[in-house]
Amino acid sequence: MPKKIIIAIDGPAGSGKSTAAKNIAQKLGFTYLDTGAMYRAITFIALRNGISDNIPAVISLAQSIDLKLKFENGITHVFLNNEEVTEQIRTAEVNAKVSEISKIPEVREELVKIQKRLGAEGHVVAEGRDVTTVVFPYADLKIYLTASIDTRARRRLKEFEEKNIRISFEDVKANLETRDKIDSSREVSPLKKADDAIEYDNSDVTPEQDFEYLLKKIKQVLSQK
Ligand code: DC
Repeated sequence: MPKKIIIAIDGPAGSGKSTAAKNIAQKLGFTYLDTGAMYRAITFIALRNGISDNIPAVISLAQSIDLKLKFENGITHVFLNNEEVTEQIRTAEVNAKVSEISKIPEVREELVKIQKRLGAEGHVVAEGRDVTTVVFPYADLKIYLTASIDTRARRRLKEFEEKNIRISFEDVKANLETRDKIDSSREVSPLKKADDAIEYDNSDVTPEQDFEYLLKKIKQVLSQK
């Protein structure tokens, strides 16, 4: 391929971004950049250190922490100061706090710096809330994935059930609604569809159909490069 390709996917929680991005990365040999995992990692450590409500402390944490992502066999392994926190960043406690932490401009600034650096290294498929608008506004292909709130809540509930975590459908749905609201209304880098992004509602399609659709779009883009 003649140049480094960046595919950027934004959308609300449970819209299938991770599944789609992982499948694309594996199929095309691209690096998968899970930007949500980074916000989750900072949130997890802030909660564990008991500083999650202390904004200056969270900022210095974000500025000093050594954060690494390693994508292997379909899983993004997350390391903070060389400690693996892959499982710990996906708990209900982190879900409940992560949007608050993600609102802090200085935290975003630090993480966006890392994301841009990783994006410069090779072919990348990135997913998050602002990868089409702020992190990679020059991406070769921008997708805004979405699905109905009930579909998204059912997907998240299934993920919890697969991990034997007991939580009600109502609680999962309420967390998604709260996060959607905070993520879309924050002042800095809110979740929104970029003007030049392709919007795709996958409420009624399988992950396989989702993947096929995206792959077709990507192949069109690659053939023009
Ligand atoms: O994609 P996710 O559910 O793992 O993301 C967790 C949270 O991180 C999400 O609710 C908002 C925040 N986030 C963000 O603000 N910007 C991103 N690019 C990715 C995630």
